[in-house]
Amino acid sequence: MAPTEESADSTLAQLPHFVIVPLVAQGHTIPMVDLARLLAGRGARVSLVTTPINACRLRGVADQAARAKLPLEFVELPFPTEIHGLPPGIENVDQITDFSHFAPFFFDALPKLAGPLEAYLRAMAPRPSCIVSDWCNPWTAGVATRLGIPRLFFHGPSCFYSLCDLNAIDHGLHEQISVAAGDDQEKFAVPGMPVHVEVTRATAPGFFMTPGFEPLWKQCVDAMRTADGAVVNTFLDLEHEFVACYEAALGKPVWALGPLCLANKDADAMESRGDTSGVRRSAVTAWLDTMDTGSVVYVNFGSVARKLPRQLFEVGHGLEDSGKPFLWVVKEAEAAAPEVGEWLAALEARTAGRGLVVRGWAPQLAVLSHRAVGGFITHCGWNSLLESVTHGVPVVTWPHFADQFLNERLVVDVLGVGVPIGVTAPVMLFDDETLPVVRGDVARAVSELMGGGNEAGERRRKAKEYGEKAHRAMEKGGSSYENMTQLIESFRQSGGGKHGCNGGTVAEACDVHCHDVMPC
Ligand SMILES: *[C@@H]1O[C@H](CO)[C@@H](O)[C@H](O)[C@H]1NC(C)=O
Repeated sequence: MAPTEESADSTLAQLPHFVIVPLVAQGHTIPMVDLARLLAGRGARVSLVTTPINACRLRGVADQAARAKLPLEFVELPFPTEIHGLPPGIENVDQITDFSHFAPFFFDALPKLAGPLEAYLRAMAPRPSCIVSDWCNPWTAGVATRLGIPRLFFHGPSCFYSLCDLNAIDHGLHEQISVAAGDDQEKFAVPGMPVHVEVTRATAPGFFMTPGFEPLWKQCVDAMRTADGAVVNTFLDLEHEFVACYEAALGKPVWALGPLCLANKDADAMESRGDTSGVRRSAVTAWLDTMDTGSVVYVNFGSVARKLPRQLFEVGHGLEDSGKPFLWVVKEAEAAAPEVGEWLAALEARTAGRGLVVRGWAPQLAVLSHRAVGGFITHCGWNSLLESVTHGVPVVTWPHFADQFLNERLVVDVLGVGVPIGVTAPVMLFDDETLPVVRGDVARAVSELMGGGNEAGERRRKAKEYGEKAHRAMEKGGSSYENMTQLIESFRQSGGGKHGCNGGTVAEACDVHCHDVMPC
């Protein structure tokens, strides 16, 4: 080995080393890849653990990181094979098309990655400083314990949601709901919140609380309790009191490092994010370039929800009836039905010049950061909401499931940047027979969002203000930037005792923090 390589290796060995283990689902992987790049860009060593099909989608990011000489490596563990009931070739939640495949995917396949991960980490000298794994990957807890490596969990929703969820568990909200006699519209206050929050049985917080998934839910909660701290994708000027209360309720440090999407600084990064096989940015931005500033409403329901033709037609008619310019992303799986394909082509012909339908994956950041986009109809996944707010774009909220109903409450009631489309209950994945939203709802919400008037102006003003604060948080001296400094420093090996913090001092960091959080 050449001397320079040797010294590069020994320098690498001295860096604080983070092993990042995302859940293999687009909405979970994307922010954790951003996190990995930010940490590496700030001088930490990072290994991001994934599987072959997912690594393929990340090739663009990996190439970029290599060109920039970032200390970031992608670790491919083979996806467990021959899982009973799971068709081969499925390595990501967005490939699942049958609800019954979720169970073997989560219960049988993912935990089998623990062995290969442990073997990989054991072979490393020195051992990594810290594992950061998704809240939904509780199988990493045993690996971290057996190797004596501190573990943080990354939780992808708003901190508002995560706090509601934790308070619901700690204060018995689920028990209260299960014994309540009222109908489905009965409202329950989420206990322990610094603001008033109401949910119904259907919109109560909790991942994996669906029948059959309770054991997974319990494992996730246990792994949350035994973690050394949490990393969240938000910033203090957006969710200060919820971060403080979450830290107090968990009794562990919470690093607010977002908006992580701002790791993507140039057009190239924005385009290769998520999935390089998607529509080229240039085709979409070229169209946006022809539109007036702030005039276009962008419509995208995230990577998981799949709409039946009937529901798609209502969305399309609503956009047409609104009279506003729109950019609508329809999934390939949705557009594949011949009746849908024909119908979309007819819609495009009728709205030529003001409507564009994109089929497949779209470069969302390039869209939201374009000056022509003035509003976003979103499923309220936290990445989408945060990306929108970060670019000063107010939203129409149409939550589908999981954390999305509470993310909606945050953006509508607390932040004041959203117009609800009016849904009150989650949709079942893939086979929902109800039609929760009709064309009139879409047209009304779009007009409210994109129209003139005081309320619309106020929403735009607030969104713009949060957008500016989001950018400041990520700059040197900003709260997220400095939280990342703290995170990296608390895992730096104490070479000459200069930093005073070894890998194991998360508990100390916690002591320091939990003293000055506000009472909730
Ligand atoms: C994050 O930054 C805030 C404000 O600067 C600070 O109060 C908090 O302690 C930091 N959190 C961590 C976990 O370092």
